[in-house]
Amino acid sequence: MSFQSDLLATLPGRINSWWFYDQHGSELFEQITDLPEYYPTRTETALLHRHAADMATQIGPRATLVEYGAGSLTKVRILLDAMTSPLRYKPLDVSGEFLKSAANDLRRDYLTLDIQPIIASFTDAFDFGFTDGTNRVGFFPGSTIGNLDDATITALLRHARALDKFLLGVDLVKDTDTLIAAYNDAQGITARFNLNLLHRANAEAGTDFNLEEWEHLAVWNAKESQIEMHLRARSGQSVTLADQTFPFAKGDTILTEISRKFTPEILAPLFAASGWALRDLWVDPHTPYALLMLD
Ligand code: TRP
Repeated sequence: MSFQSDLLATLPGRINSWWFYDQHGSELFEQITDLPEYYPTRTETALLHRHAADMATQIGPRATLVEYGAGSLTKVRILLDAMTSPLRYKPLDVSGEFLKSAANDLRRDYLTLDIQPIIASFTDAFDFGFTDGTNRVGFFPGSTIGNLDDATITALLRHARALDKFLLGVDLVKDTDTLIAAYNDAQGITARFNLNLLHRANAEAGTDFNLEEWEHLAVWNAKESQIEMHLRARSGQSVTLADQTFPFAKGDTILTEISRKFTPEILAPLFAASGWALRDLWVDPHTPYALLMLD
């Protein structure tokens, strides 16, 4: 799917979040993870540090880790350092160049680990690239699963049943102010990340968005239990792509991402539908966020 044909299919109401993560987008997202308001990364990292030994025991020796949406490959180091003789590591990401350079950095520190990046989208039925082995464990941190709808989550987890276990990070429902601030930071990095989509659409797909006339918007949808990220038109305007014109009124929004916040009631049917059982969980005592071990 080219960016242009995808945009022609989803505009004016949506741009698929898949397109966030080019090189610049991946770098901006790394900056988001360091923001004071963006609690998920540091909460999850602290949970991993606190319980890595416990998780490693459950994973077992000579394991193969498959990381979904791997990004900069920092969290996995915490697990690898606690594991007994990890055998293989397969980080999966759509951002090929970003992934390859992160994999090379990791190789320098883990000389005996067999590192095999997979450049693919975790929403596709990608090839795991192995036929045998034991202790094959999926690792999907960052509550990235919250960016997916029920059908996509169920398909992803079903496909992952080729693995023996699955360690999943999920952000939990909490007070609205904390949630909104995490997606609308004071420095405006999240706004730049969101607006980068339009910059990229202009550069790579041939749209003519005037970036000055769009702004970042994050809203909490309590009914759907999700943060919604939009781009909002500051003025009436029209945008052209190929032979099509998309008119926007002032205040019209393009939905660019959802970030679902989970409860046990939301998660249970997703696991049941995909053939996984909740085996163990670790929850932060201060900021509701959890790591779950499924088998
Ligand atoms: N997985 C991240 C999350 O939902 C992605 C994310 C964080 C994001 N901030 C964002 C996506 C801003 C779009 C816009 O928490």
